[in-house]
Amino acid sequence: MEPIGRVIEVEGLDSFTAVISSDVELRKFEFVKWEDGIGYVEWVKARPSVPTEVPWDVASKVPIDEQTSVVIAKVRSFEPNPPRVGQWVYLAGDEEVEELYSVPPERALHLGYLRNRPNVKINLDLNALVRHLAIIAATGSGKTWTSVVMIEELLKKGATVLILDPHGEYVPIKEKVEELGAEALVLKANAEQEGDVLYTIDLSTVNTDELAFVMGIPKNASKLRGTLEALRQIAEHEFSETQDPKAYSLERMEEVLLAIAEASEFARSQGQFSSLLKRKGVEAPERTLSVLWSIVRRGPDPAFDLLKYVEELKSLGVYGTKPTPITSFLRPATATIFNLSGIRKEVQVHLVYNILKRVFEARVRHMRKVPGESYPYPVMVIVEEAHRFAPPPSEENLWTTGM
Ligand SMILES: Nc1ncnc2c1ncn2[C@@H]1O[C@H](COP(=O)(O)OP(=O)(O)OP(=O)(O)O)[C@@H](O)[C@H]1O
Ligand SMILES: [Mg+2]
Repeated sequence: MEPIGRVIEVEGLDSFTAVISSDVELRKFEFVKWEDGIGYVEWVKARPSVPTEVPWDVASKVPIDEQTSVVIAKVRSFEPNPPRVGQWVYLAGDEEVEELYSVPPERALHLGYLRNRPNVKINLDLNALVRHLAIIAATGSGKTWTSVVMIEELLKKGATVLILDPHGEYVPIKEKVEELGAEALVLKANAEQEGDVLYTIDLSTVNTDELAFVMGIPKNASKLRGTLEALRQIAEHEFSETQDPKAYSLERMEEVLLAIAEASEFARSQGQFSSLLKRKGVEAPERTLSVLWSIVRRGPDPAFDLLKYVEELKSLGVYGTKPTPITSFLRPATATIFNLSGIRKEVQVHLVYNILKRVFEARVRHMRKVPGESYPYPVMVIVEEAHRFAPPPSEENLWTTGM
């Protein structure tokens, strides 16, 4: 085998420079080997060859042109075993490079081929995905494509895959996935959307802060927030009396808001207010009534304003009294595409928070053998546009970040 270069300088344990033969066109990220090591090319540079210390009468006579230029390559070794100065450097063979990326077949996710060597398969180790993996690259450089390839490979291994898809970009992979003999299922975040299963949330598990966030109520809208807080206390009160989860429903919230609006219009005192409410079938603890009265005594506006927020949320059909069972949307060898397209950001964030929390808790229950909803297999979650859901804490503090 012909050498392609010769070591001229060794820097530390894992890197050296070599002068490269003018017969080869060595590229960055190419793999090279030496007597007992293998490494990759970090950079290649051509430069005019003038020795660093020569007298002027020599330097001024040395021709400096293409013929006298040298090609230098910086090589990084995979192991701390650099060659010695003067040793020969060779191009590594395909088998040797493939060996570097070899993964036992039962764990290998075949991602593609090495760009410079179209015969060398690149595999990712399934075990490397036990924790977290980020795919980061410039716009349009193939992040989504890479995820789709990974998803296909995961499905071939029987994985349960959940894709959080804010643009509905993954919906079209359904057909391709089915060709692989796996399944794909579209989880809807809006009753009007096309898809297989509608994701629903039990409102009694959503706290008031979460609900205000989902509704998009501004942080400084204290009257709206106060009214919402009172509504939730009323719901809690009704639930404790009836055990009927409908107490927390948006429909009930609308009824109560209308009753509040009407009562506040006619009442001249808190006493009147509470008896008018009672006549409309709305009972509340004394403390709640007094806060509510202080908010609406000068007019029903906060109740009517809140009604608009409630109606908007109701139109999604997601927030109700029953959660979609996990096993109706998660299954082995199935990609579940949560289509979040066309949905307001706060709702997207809350749905992602909610589904991640439920999946996480279901996994914990399984592992700890705790009763309640559980899921027996690991779940691979793909978060497309993850910066939307986990922005730097210095920018925004979202519900989803912690999950
Ligand atoms: N390995 C590949 N082979 C063929 N086409 C590819 C490959 N990778 C990406 N593409 C194509 O390049 C385009 C951009 O890819 P992709 O959408 O995956 O980029 P992205 O990094 O997710 O972009 P964005 O930042 O806009 O989300 C797509 O049209 C895709 O089909
Ligand atoms: Mg993309």
